Amino acid sequence: MAETKYSCTDDILCGVNLPKDAKALSELEQKHLPVITAPKDVKRDEAFTVTIEVGKLKAHPNEPAHFIEWVELYSGDTFLFRVHLSGSLSVPTVTIPVKLTHAHGPLKAWAKCNLHGLWEGVKDISVEG
Ligand SMILES: [Fe+2]
Repeated sequence: MAETKYSCTDDILCGVNLPKDAKALSELEQKHLPVITAPKDVKRDEAFTVTIEVGKLKAHPNEPAHFIEWVELYSGDTFLFRVHLSGSLSVPTVTIPVKLTHAHGPLKAWAKCNLHGLWEGVKDISVEG
């Protein structure tokens, strides 16, 4: 039986969108890539705040017909939180305290636009202690 392979090369609604060239972001990338603000180094089991902003690089529409539906944060592949947003009545900037017991990997944020799919932003972090 032949193995089926899928490709999302040019379909932004398929898979997770990553920057094609981090030094030359397209307008679509600037509007959708979630930007993570967090300390570079944290201590084990000590709370710190993580902010995820969508539209920080270039404003994303925030209206009932076009908006960021939700944002999620992971440490590596470990789920930390998900926040649902409304079109026009909430702003896609989310700050939540988290704590880590060990380094699972880099912080990874996903943002879901109702029209333009899923987008990923990443930030390195180390956990000491
Ligand atoms: Fe969008």
